[in-house]
Amino acid sequence: MNEDVARTVAEIGYFTEDNSVETVNARMGPSVDPRLGKVMACLVKHLHAFAREAELTQDEWEYAVGFLTRTGQICTQERQEFILLSDTLGLSMLVDAINNRRPKGATENTVFGPFHVEGAPVRAMGDAISFDGKGESCLFGGRVTDLKGRPVEGARIDVWSDNADGYYDVQQPDIQPKWNNRGVFITGADGHYSFVGIKPVSYPIPDDGPVGDMLAHLGRHPYRPAHMHYMIRAEGFQKLVTHTFVEGDPYLVSDAVFGVKRTLVAPFARVDDGGETMWRSDFDFVLARPDETR
Ligand code: BEZ
Ligand code: FE
Repeated sequence: MNEDVARTVAEIGYFTEDNSVETVNARMGPSVDPRLGKVMACLVKHLHAFAREAELTQDEWEYAVGFLTRTGQICTQERQEFILLSDTLGLSMLVDAINNRRPKGATENTVFGPFHVEGAPVRAMGDAISFDGKGESCLFGGRVTDLKGRPVEGARIDVWSDNADGYYDVQQPDIQPKWNNRGVFITGADGHYSFVGIKPVSYPIPDDGPVGDMLAHLGRHPYRPAHMHYMIRAEGFQKLVTHTFVEGDPYLVSDAVFGVKRTLVAPFARVDDGGETMWRSDFDFVLARPDETR
């Protein structure tokens, strides 16, 4: 803080354009939780810098307040518009990256998304997860290993994807069978997993609310490239929340929520299964232990 500003804050305490950050942050009480104090001081600093740099007008400020109000008003248990806002601004992926710095070779994390449901049925290896009769069948398989390539036994692999129309079962509870395109698979001693789902399709994130309006105003489309979601939990390893993406998808480089990482793009090969065509996608997951970070 420059000396004149510091003196102004200490002696007078009145808010000016020049001392705004210091004046607001000086209001915090002496017994504020240290982490909360640090995060809030940082937020105020960057929020004021943003308003200053953008030379925010009164009308723009009012528009922003209205936008945030609409964002809150549309939120329900099933519709989390604020998370969607964070996702589309790249904030979710940045927070994810900061909190999941893994060593080279470990499978990378990506955005969790709003469509996971805890409690999906545990299925036997090789079982089907798709029950609405739609889409092109795909056999997913591979291994779960540690960084040294040793199989991880007892890894709980939770998978979920959209159906061939681009909707998760929870978005169409009256149309899709319960737990459609979902399942939990537990690895044996060889670390192998396999299940039969459908080749995922790209789909738009919910875009009938303020976030959709924002994307339209910014000339952005709402699509996510086709992907299969995975959450893998195993004793003694970091939790892995990730997707595999369908190679060749046109939205790989313009994912509406910035979730794609090069290492997560998986091969999808067409195979002939006794006259019936299906797809096959092989992908190995490498888990890091808690102390294996970058
Ligand atoms: C998803 O992949 O399910 C998702 C992620 C972020 C926002 C919307 C959907
Ligand atoms: Fe998804």
